Amino acid sequence: MFHAVGHAPVQLEFGTVHRVLSGGNHHPWLCQLEDASGPSGFWVVKPQHVVSRSTQRAQFGVLSELAAAEVCAWLDVPVPSLGLVRFPVDAGDVDVPAHLDERTRQEIRTTAEINAGQLAFCGRYLPEAHDLAAAVFVDGDTKAQLLDVGAKLFFLDAYMRHDDRQVENPNALWWTKRIVAIDHGNAFAGLSDTGKTGAGLAAMTVLSNVPRRHVLYESLRDVVTEVDISAAVQRLQSVADGVIDAAAAGWPKELDVRPRPRDEGLKTRLVRFLKNRRAVVPTIMDNVMAELRRQK
Ligand SMILES: Nc1ncnc2c1ncn2[C@@H]1O[C@H](COP(=O)(O)OP(=O)(O)OP(=O)(O)O)[C@@H](O)[C@H]1O
Ligand SMILES: [Mg+2]
Repeated sequence: MFHAVGHAPVQLEFGTVHRVLSGGNHHPWLCQLEDASGPSGFWVVKPQHVVSRSTQRAQFGVLSELAAAEVCAWLDVPVPSLGLVRFPVDAGDVDVPAHLDERTRQEIRTTAEINAGQLAFCGRYLPEAHDLAAAVFVDGDTKAQLLDVGAKLFFLDAYMRHDDRQVENPNALWWTKRIVAIDHGNAFAGLSDTGKTGAGLAAMTVLSNVPRRHVLYESLRDVVTEVDISAAVQRLQSVADGVIDAAAAGWPKELDVRPRPRDEGLKTRLVRFLKNRRAVVPTIMDNVMAELRRQK
């Protein structure tokens, strides 16, 4: 169900589209997909290009989902298992479900056209999952999850320059009494910009104001005297180059595009970001803890 360190994304093929999930901007599809051995169950499919918003991260959105899942797995923060599916070259080969309303059917057709032949990110669908709400931590049983996975995830979001896990749009699920991180299409903020380098962005450790809107911020502040991320910090610092390279070997080379001919490729800069980011882990931890300890 969850991504494990170094596991390459499963290669999937289109089966049936069931519906469009419209929690945020991306309008991912809930689909039944197939793998080499046959039906592979339900997956959430996130195409590179969407009609529901104008700013697109295209190839980098897929890469950042893959890389963020790997970073989370280093610290045992659950993220649904990863897959990749290629849209048919002929958009007409995507079956549009008859039971959906015409507007949604048209959105599916257009999305299939603008993504024809391209790879899309897939995350294993977790049935019965709820979007994470701070209210779940009122119950005493859930405090251990908050102090373990919750604290690590808050810290990792600073590490990954990810500011898209906010109260209004948590991009985290509450599933079988666990916090599960999803939707890392906007992680590694700034890294895909023209002219940026992985090493340059890795050195940027100042947090924006956004952590205060993080879905876990207030809950973690309530227990801040018990928050201890020192073990997580040590693990992150000791991730070997080989672990990063092995993960990157599973990320498709075709996504390694360069915004301009003289720029670093997107995959290359992600690898360089991850390798250089280890050096600033203590600074990020200090910033995160200072943010949690701020006077109320
Ligand atoms: N693996 C999953 N299992 C169960 N539900 C999921 C899963 N992935 C996504 N969802 C649900 O679908 C919603 C939309 O998915 P997601 O957050 O990945 O895309 P998005 O928010 O629309 O995209 P973006 O934030 O990139 O614009 C989520 O908020 C969540 O409710
Ligand atoms: Mg989302």
